[in-house]
Amino acid sequence: MSLPRNFLQLLPMAGHTRGNRDAMTCHFKCGDACAQAVCNTSSNSYFRDIADKAMSRRAALGLGGVAAAAVVVGPQIANAPSASADFGGFGKGGGKLSFNAIDPVERTVDTVTVPEGYDWAPIIRWGDPLFHDAPVFDGANQTAAAQEQQFGYNNDYLNILADRGNGRTGVLVCNHEYTNEYMMFDPAWQAENADEARRIAWAAHGFSVVELKRAKAGQKWEYVVGGARNRRITATTPFRLDGPAAGSDLVKTVADPEGLTVLGTNNNCAGGTTPWGTIISGEENFNQYFQGRGTAEEARYGIGTGAPSRGWEKLDPRFSAQNPGYENETNRFGYIVEIDPQDPTSTPVKHTALGRFKHEGANINIAADGRVVAYSGDDERFDYVYKFISKGKYREGDKAHNMTLLSEGDLYVAKFSETSAAEIDGSGAVPSDGAFDGGGEWLPLVKNGTSRIAGMSVAEVLVYTRLAADKAGATKMDRPEDVEPNPATGKLYIALTNNSNRGKAGNAPADEANPVNGNRDGHIIELTERGNDAAALTFDWNILLVAGDPAVSDTTYFSGFPPEKVSPISCPDNLAFDSRGNLWISTDGAPGKIGYCDAIHKVQLTGPERGKVEQFLAVPAGAEACGPVIHDREDSVFVAVQHPGEGGTYAEPYSLFPDFKASREDVRAGEFYGPRPSVVQVFSTRGNKGVGHAKRAAKAKSLPRKK
Ligand code: FEO
Ligand code: CA
Ligand code: CA
Repeated sequence: MSLPRNFLQLLPMAGHTRGNRDAMTCHFKCGDACAQAVCNTSSNSYFRDIADKAMSRRAALGLGGVAAAAVVVGPQIANAPSASADFGGFGKGGGKLSFNAIDPVERTVDTVTVPEGYDWAPIIRWGDPLFHDAPVFDGANQTAAAQEQQFGYNNDYLNILADRGNGRTGVLVCNHEYTNEYMMFDPAWQAENADEARRIAWAAHGFSVVELKRAKAGQKWEYVVGGARNRRITATTPFRLDGPAAGSDLVKTVADPEGLTVLGTNNNCAGGTTPWGTIISGEENFNQYFQGRGTAEEARYGIGTGAPSRGWEKLDPRFSAQNPGYENETNRFGYIVEIDPQDPTSTPVKHTALGRFKHEGANINIAADGRVVAYSGDDERFDYVYKFISKGKYREGDKAHNMTLLSEGDLYVAKFSETSAAEIDGSGAVPSDGAFDGGGEWLPLVKNGTSRIAGMSVAEVLVYTRLAADKAGATKMDRPEDVEPNPATGKLYIALTNNSNRGKAGNAPADEANPVNGNRDGHIIELTERGNDAAALTFDWNILLVAGDPAVSDTTYFSGFPPEKVSPISCPDNLAFDSRGNLWISTDGAPGKIGYCDAIHKVQLTGPERGKVEQFLAVPAGAEACGPVIHDREDSVFVAVQHPGEGGTYAEPYSLFPDFKASREDVRAGEFYGPRPSVVQVFSTRGNKGVGHAKRAAKAKSLPRKK
C-alpha cells in the first residue's frame, strides 16, 4: 500500500478550522453533544437567585479552615495492591520528575513531545494480543473474534498498579471509550460487512486488564501476553446491576425481566482506583448508542429519536427503545461501573446508588468516620457535580466488604454560592475581593434510603438523576469532568472543561463559579469540604485557574501567578496528583481552541508558585491526552493517547503514531499503517537506553509536511 496521493495536504485536516474541535471527535466520542440543543432546559434557578446573601468571604474562609492536620485518607495512598507504584510513592520521600517545561507544540506535530532527559515508548497499542491464542494485529483484515482477544480502541482512564514485592510485576487497567469507524475500517469493506464491523466495534469498547513486567523497578514496563489476570470486558460482557434501582421496573427489559443483568458497558471515560484496589469508571456519552422514543426523560439525557450512525440497533434490538420490550434498555447505561482487576473471573458491577447521568468518572475519598465518598461530574454543558456517601464504612484489608460500599448510601448534588455576585459580568475579571470564591452545600437527592425529591421514588431519582437534581436546585456548571481529591490535603479539584453556551441567550449567565461567558478554555475549581471531612454537607471553594493562552486571551487566571510565566493550557479534563501533592492536568480539545496539541501539565498548588502551569508533554496530532498516571518516585509518567490522528480516515491517516511507518518501504501491500490508540510510558533516559520511540517519530516527522 502506498501513501495516499494527497497525504501531505491532509495535514492539517482539510476544512478543519481553528476554534472548532475536530468534527469526527465530536461525532464518535460525544454523539455531537455540543451541536445539539442544551439538554438541561430546567428552570432550575441558578445559584445567584438563591445564594446565601449572608455569606461573606471572611465567614466562608473561617468556616472552611484549611485543617491541614485533619488530612483525609487518600484513596491511592491506601490503595490495596500497590500504594507506592500507584501514586509515585507518596509518603516515602520520593519525588523526582524534575523537568523544564516544554514549549507548546503546534497541533500538526505527530509525535509525543517530552522534556529534555526523557523519552517515551508505547506499552500496548490498539489490537495488541492479550492471550496466547490471540492473533497478531492485522488492521486491514480485522475480525470481531480477534478484537475480543486484543487491546481495545481509544484508551481513556488508565492506572498502572505494581504488585507488592519486588516491583517487577504489575497490572495495567484501562477503558476503551469509543470507536472511530472511519479510521478503523476500509469503507468498501465496511459497506459489505456492516454487521461484522459493528461486532468489531462492540469488542473494541469496554476495558482491558493486562499484566506488566520489567527487569527492575524504575525501568520501562512491558505487557505480558497471556498474563494470568489479562482480561477483556466489552460491549457484550454481562454486568450485575446493583443498588436500589436494580430490579425496579425502570430497568427491566424483555431480555432481562428481573432487571439485574446488563450486557456491556459503553463510552467509559475517566475513572478512579478505589482504596480497596478496584477500578471505577463512568459511562459517559452512552446516549449516542441508542434510538429513543421521544420521552422527556430521554431528551434530558440527549437520547434522540433518530437512528444512531453506528447502527447497533440493526444488529441487536435492545439499542432502540422503539423496539417493544426494550423501552428501558437506555436506563441500564449511564452508571459508575466497578471491576476487580485482580480477579479475571469476577462479574463487573453497575452501581445505581451513585445515580445515572453522563458520568465522567468517579473518585473516592474516605470520611472522618470511615464512610467512603465518591465524587462524580456530569460532563454536559450546564450539568452538575455529585457526591455519594456510603452507608457502610471502609475496613482496611477487607476487600469483600469494601466492594459492597458503593451499593447503598446517600446521593447529593452541589449548589455553589458566591461572595462577589454583583461583580461577575462574564468578562472573567477577578472580583475586588481578589478571588472567585464562595461557599456551598450538598443537596440531598436520596438520604437514609428515602427520596428527598417530591414526586420521585428512590428508583426514579437514581435512574432519572438529572431530573431529580434539576428539582433540587443544583448549580449549572461548565461541563464537569474529573472530580478528584488530592491525597496530600483532602481538597477536591473539579475540571470544568469548557462551555461555549455560557451566557448565551436562553442559557444561564456567568456566575462566580463559572465566571466566563462563552467559556472557551475551561477552568478548575478547588473545593474544601468544611472541617476537611469528605462527609461534610457544606463546603468552600475557589477557582484555581481559568485556562487559556495568556498571549492571546485576557480571561486567564492562575491564582495570581504571573500569566506570562505559565504554559498555555486549554480544556482541562483528567486530573492526577504526584507524591508531593502537585496537580497534573491532561487536556482534551486544545488543538481546536488554542492551536496546540493536547498536553499534560503540572501545577503547583501551594507556596509562592501556586498556579504555575508547566507543560510536561504533548500528544500527537489529533490526539487527546488521557490518563494520566504520575509515578514521580520512578521518574515516569503514563498517558493514554486517545484518538491520535482523529480527522483522518482509514485510507488517509492524519497521524502515523505510534509506529510511524511513514515510507513506502515500511508498508507492505494491504497492511494497516494508520494511527493506533496506545498507552505510552514516558521515562527518564537514565537506565532506559535504546527503548524510546522519539528517534523513530523524528524520522517520520522529517517528511516534508505541508502546514
Ligand atoms: Fe469523555 Fe468528559 O470526556
Ligand atoms: Ca469573590
Ligand atoms: Ca474525559
